[in-house]
Amino acid sequence: MSEITLSIIKPDAVRNGYTGKILAQIQAADLKIVGLRMLQLSRKEAEGFYAVHKERPFYQELVEFMISGPVVVSALEGEKAIERYRKLMGATDPAKADEGTLRKLFAESLQNNAVHGSDAPETSRVEVAYFFSSVDLVS
Ligand code: RTP
Ligand code: MG
Repeated sequence: MSEITLSIIKPDAVRNGYTGKILAQIQAADLKIVGLRMLQLSRKEAEGFYAVHKERPFYQELVEFMISGPVVVSALEGEKAIERYRKLMGATDPAKADEGTLRKLFAESLQNNAVHGSDAPETSRVEVAYFFSSVDLVS
């Protein structure tokens, strides 16, 4: 079954000039880009996007980071896209990420970790709809 997952190239990676390299790796991993936008998140949008973490101690800092510069959001389609993209990203903490993963290659720190990817079908549906209406996605 083909799935769609949401990717965000976070402000650190955009700032460091890694957008093109990350998109190239996504395509090389056979994840099809079916939606793509660059945008600046508002505080409200960032708070809403990471609302699941609002009780966590790092929430406010995470929101500050996510609004610190533009992000590049994309919708990625493929067989088991959610799991495959999580694997390509590597562990949340780049120090623990496998060699060759996006976070190992491009992240600055546990917080400034270069990329986001949806973690389950239920969250990917909500997250893709957070940034793309269905008419914005190519088939
Ligand atoms: P993401 O949602 O961004 O794809 O990352 P993830 O699933 O690997 O990690 P998650 O636990 O959902 O955490 C969301 C983001 O919060 C930041 N974080 N900071 N300072 C800290 O202890 C800490 N822990 C997590 C990271 O930016 C992480 O990706
Ligand atoms: Mg997460």
